[in-house]
Amino acid sequence: MTIAIRQIHPVFVGEVSGIDVSRPLSREEVAALEAGMNRYAVLVFHDQRLTDEQQMAFSRNFGTLEDARGGNITKPEDRRLQVGMNDVSNLGRDGAPMARDSRQRLFNLGNMLWHSDSSFRPVPAKYSLLSARIVNPVGGNTEFADMRAAWDALDAGTQAEIEDLVCEHSLMYSRGLLGMLEYSEEERAMFRPVRQRLVRTHPVTGRKSLYLSSHAGSVVGMPMPEARILLRDLTEHATQPRFVYGHRWRPWDLVMWDNRQMMHRVRRYDEGQPRDMRRTTVAGDAATVAQVSAA
Ligand SMILES: [Fe+2]
Repeated sequence: MTIAIRQIHPVFVGEVSGIDVSRPLSREEVAALEAGMNRYAVLVFHDQRLTDEQQMAFSRNFGTLEDARGGNITKPEDRRLQVGMNDVSNLGRDGAPMARDSRQRLFNLGNMLWHSDSSFRPVPAKYSLLSARIVNPVGGNTEFADMRAAWDALDAGTQAEIEDLVCEHSLMYSRGLLGMLEYSEEERAMFRPVRQRLVRTHPVTGRKSLYLSSHAGSVVGMPMPEARILLRDLTEHATQPRFVYGHRWRPWDLVMWDNRQMMHRVRRYDEGQPRDMRRTTVAGDAATVAQVSAA
């Protein structure tokens, strides 16, 4: 089999054929997929029947797996999946859809806001890989927005104005947008804001991209309302339909994206029906800007 990648959106997204990712890959195959990621930033694979172990093994071709601790309010004893797997289903440990008032479910609704995975970590994620195990019958598409195209389309004045800005990101900012404002002391410490550049440069291609996320809630040195308006305005710009691809899931689809160049969100779905989606996350290798140590 030979890997082939076909672009399926006017500005990004490649559909990959000629590969079975449940098997060990050759160095050439990994290089072809890395090159595809650098170019298309989102790769779609169909009919990949993976176990969690196979998904983790495939993901490790692209770096080390991110330590998921500190990224959710789910307690260890309530976890459905093993360490290394991010559970982005609507299922509880018992395998049934979570209750409507479940705090864990309400927190997870934040995935329906545009974001970049782990932008709330000092070293944010490189790639995310999402495997569809049970597809919800109603809704639940995942949308991706190309932050490189969004940067390219800004006028030169705006580019110069924002290029060196630094934002603060926290899960409390994104969940605050949904009206979730109450956290324990432990959660507050875990979700302490981190700094990220607003504009990133891809380490291989040199392309610039906006680094937006609903986790971004302030801009260093800027009054809060001014920062929020700027971030909202840029997000509206960056998520125009021409920069967005909507993925309609089929069982055993695997979609892999570069968080350094993309934002994504899940669309609403029937929460009474199961949606079993399992994510692995490849850790980034550097912070985007120096952190300020806590006083
Ligand atoms: Fe996400």
